[in-house]
Amino acid sequence: MKSILMVCLGNICRSPLAEGILKDKCKQHGISVKVDSAGTSNFHVGEMPDKRSMENALMHNIDISALRGRQFKVKDFDVFDMIYVMDESNYQNVIALARNQNDIDKVDYILNQIQPNINASVPDPYYGGEHGFENVFQLLNKSCNAIVEKLLSNTNQQ
Ligand code: 4NP
Repeated sequence: MKSILMVCLGNICRSPLAEGILKDKCKQHGISVKVDSAGTSNFHVGEMPDKRSMENALMHNIDISALRGRQFKVKDFDVFDMIYVMDESNYQNVIALARNQNDIDKVDYILNQIQPNINASVPDPYYGGEHGFENVFQLLNKSCNAIVEKLLSNTNQQ
């Protein structure tokens, strides 16, 4: 089974949303994929997603309240096929733990799924208002559509 990890800094705002959105789409399409998320920091280990992320997800009929924060670890390179990061600092922090080129090749900016090779960042909504969360949702929703299309075309080729 394919496996995908979403990574941000705290694992309470952006990456849990990305996890919830992708899981929802995979379920709707009947695709079996392992989806998880993690933060590069240990700031919010064991915590629920940020209230604003949970509320935003619920507005889109996605419940992420059961998710809990965890920190990215080197072993994740062995467990996951693809590791999607939200911004440049996530990218640098994850790459710093890579052991070889194979590990590095698994890591990509999630927005490269819709804007290839730009390495654009999903803005950190933590210090902003609620509008920031809807903006993040829209960016992640489009990116996850692209990921699902790729997963579906891979499935059809097998
Ligand atoms: P996230 O947002 O990386 O999207 O989960 C943040 C959450 C917490 C902090 C920063 C960003 N923080 O500094 O605690």
